[in-house]
Amino acid sequence: MTNVIIIFIHLLAAGVALGSLVYCLKVYLPVVEKGQTERNENSPAYKIVDLMAPTVFASLLILIGSGIYFLLENYSAQVGLKPGYYNLFGIKMVFVAGAFFTSMYVTFSLRIHISDLDLSPQNKKLVPDTLRKIIGLSKMTMWLIAIALFLGIWLARY
Ligand code: HEM
Repeated sequence: MTNVIIIFIHLLAAGVALGSLVYCLKVYLPVVEKGQTERNENSPAYKIVDLMAPTVFASLLILIGSGIYFLLENYSAQVGLKPGYYNLFGIKMVFVAGAFFTSMYVTFSLRIHISDLDLSPQNKKLVPDTLRKIIGLSKMTMWLIAIALFLGIWLARY
């Protein structure tokens, strides 16, 4: 029963992380930015990434917490695992680490460059460039999480 609850939380967090990235980057932004050339701190791109970035980062923290808890909970069962399980696990962790650091950089560094414009007005001219970087790195996070999701499903059936 505990395993079911942990994996439910793990999958829920994976769904929220990937779902919010896909919705923002592939559904919302292409529609609201149709015909728009320049982005600024009042454009929908900033409003949506300001909400999306912390959501994705929090989901990644839940994924890491629930993943570690699953491993601890099933500690004694791990002697019977097929060879190669931890190779797959290691590859999954490379993608998780990539997603974690890109998401952290977007949430705690790039996003703050725009939210703190009244304290650092010199950043105002950099806003379109910062938003372009945020969207590019978020796309990268999306692909890294999608691959980690695939590897997670593979791992569970290995
Ligand atoms: C981007 C982050 C992650 C995603 C998208 C992800 C996704 C998944 C998915 C889809 C499963 C399959 C569940 C099932 O079908 O039963 C899974 C299982 C699992 N994940 Fe993750 N995961 C992530 C991060 C992590 C982390 C950080 C850890 C550990 C520190 C972890 C450890 C595990 C373990 C141990 C399993 C169970 C494998 C088994 O049943 O043998 N995951 N993950």
